Amino acid sequence: MQKELHISYEEFNNWAELNEQDRNLLSAAQDATGLAYVPYSQFKVGAAVLLESGKIYKAGNQENASYPVTICAERTLLSTLTSVANGEKILAMAVSYYKNSENYTQPISPCGMCRQAIVEAETRQGAPITIILGANNPENKVYKVDGIASLLPFQFTSEDLK
Ligand code: THU
Repeated sequence: MQKELHISYEEFNNWAELNEQDRNLLSAAQDATGLAYVPYSQFKVGAAVLLESGKIYKAGNQENASYPVTICAERTLLSTLTSVANGEKILAMAVSYYKNSENYTQPISPCGMCRQAIVEAETRQGAPITIILGANNPENKVYKVDGIASLLPFQFTSEDLK
């Protein structure tokens, strides 16, 4: 039997179309590209989360001379949070990037490993995380989804281990 899966997301033409909270978070993610350590790819990724207390935390990708040891911005941030956020829920995560070439406008597409890490964060806190994806310039397009299921359907979770 053929079945279909519908994924819904919001698209904004630029940052000005976002609500203030989302715009601030995306701006924090863009600032976080300044935290990236990217001597090998020069591809700077920034991630920022909004916690239920209103606090914002940020991180950038951290590369390594042994390439597979590199940690993406999203996972750098999520791992840090388990130590510093006191178990607070994550309401939203924004991700943005900067690279040394002109004319890139497409919102970042988080890698598969980071999507799986966000699945774990959602499962752990028992609530979805809004995800806002942008690129380096406030004039660029933005995508927003209301949980990781829209970016990673058929997810593997702790339920599968039972
Ligand atoms: N990267 C991230 O930080 N997040 C993503 O979602 C995609 C990829 C990083 C890893 C590496 O440092 C660089 O981008 C190029 O792959």
